Amino acid sequence: MADTRRIVDILRQQSLGEVVDAKGWLRTRRDSGSLTFLELNDGSCLTNLQILAEEGLGNYATEVRKLSTGCSLRVRGTLVASPAKGQPVEVRADLIEVLGWADPESYPLQKKRHSFEFLRSIAHLRPRTNALGAVARIRSALSFAIHRFFHEQGFILVQTPIITTSDCEGAGEMFTVTTLEPGQMRQGDPFGDDFFGRRAGLTVSGQLQAEIFALSHGRVYTFGPTFRAENSNTNRHLAEFWMLEPEMAFCDLRGDMEMAEAMIKALIASVLAECAEDLILFDQHVAKGLIDRLSQVRDAPFVHLTYTEAVAELQRARRDFAFPVQWGVDLQAEHERYLCEEVARAPVIVTNYPEAIKPFYMRLDDDGRTVAAMDLLVAGIGELVGGSQREERYEVLARRMAAAGLDTEQYGWYLDLRRFGSVPHAGFGLGFDRLVQFVTGMQNIRDVIPFPRTPGNAPC
Ligand code: 4AD
Ligand code: MG
Repeated sequence: MADTRRIVDILRQQSLGEVVDAKGWLRTRRDSGSLTFLELNDGSCLTNLQILAEEGLGNYATEVRKLSTGCSLRVRGTLVASPAKGQPVEVRADLIEVLGWADPESYPLQKKRHSFEFLRSIAHLRPRTNALGAVARIRSALSFAIHRFFHEQGFILVQTPIITTSDCEGAGEMFTVTTLEPGQMRQGDPFGDDFFGRRAGLTVSGQLQAEIFALSHGRVYTFGPTFRAENSNTNRHLAEFWMLEPEMAFCDLRGDMEMAEAMIKALIASVLAECAEDLILFDQHVAKGLIDRLSQVRDAPFVHLTYTEAVAELQRARRDFAFPVQWGVDLQAEHERYLCEEVARAPVIVTNYPEAIKPFYMRLDDDGRTVAAMDLLVAGIGELVGGSQREERYEVLARRMAAAGLDTEQYGWYLDLRRFGSVPHAGFGLGFDRLVQFVTGMQNIRDVIPFPRTPGNAPC
């Protein structure tokens, strides 16, 4: 079993005359006289391995001629030059073993193209399609590239908790984690008898815990699932999404922005170099011009605007936005996209947002009205990264936490970090699924994560 080679390696090495042993799932079968051509895919690359099956095979009439899309096979044969157009090699089979049949009447994937919406209803089979198969490979490559980038920059990986009692963003979007049965909540202290003795939930961000380690190890990052019970049915929101959060001590807003830009460029350079075949698929069938656009993002500097400048730009725009723009109001995706797509024609980093629309931990600017925040915006999506310099001054932070209605006793540990050896520090959060969306050009975020969780939807 273990000696089976992946199709990607067989196609890369192309040692003609060699006996190869491949396993995978059948994409198509085509009969031509006493010959049968099989297209086998094993998920290791987009290209199928073509198999030539001839009459002489022992199970040719009984099995090979009955194979249908979705069957799993083991094939052994000789690698030969292919006379067919569009593929350099094929395998002339001397053995075809059917590992698992797939009833053609009920197998939901047909040769034709299916809508992404339909594919969402078969989460257990959609990775076998070209597009979703390519998404999975790109997601993996990006994930690996993130670890490589931060490792090379001297960051330490910290696993922050999934169950937490801190609501980092303070937006009240935490899913509660409880073992209480209905009716078991204590009057006045509803979670007093619960597993943790207080209200716990699924993390909305690992940032606050990452800050602990930034103030002991300098450069750290956390990368894991985060959860938000926000009722947003858009094509860029998930209730469970993956977030990368680096946190850097001795770093200000400028350093934060530089790191975010360098990271995005490095990640895009990695996929352009490593996932060319899959990117061509998206460029041709999903988002025309994708590879050119990604190359530009890799090569050209990002544009910087303050929030105040961005608002002025949007007010000048001859465009009817669904949400009118005025200073003090948060930017919507339509505004963010306009800035990137029409004004800058490049990713934009917007800084210094009004204090009132950003979380308590962001550092107050000298004007007292804005905070040292930055959002990195990209075409087609809007906000890809959100970050800030953190408030490192005890008094200012305590005041802002009180104003946000946070229990300063419960967050005493967070304030302590400002009492004992506080330093300027900064970090950001990259929405990993939005990055995959950006890199593939896929319209809906539900199609770039293996198992999307959205309101009313968690089937397996
Ligand atoms: O801007 P956000 O809320 O920032 C934070 O959570 C900070 N604690 C990060 C930090 O500074 N360490 O979220 C960061 C990013 C957003 O820019 C967006 O890309 C993504 O996470 N994001 C979502 N992605 C998918 N579905 C959702 N519901 C998302 N909410 C945020
Ligand atoms: Mg944000």
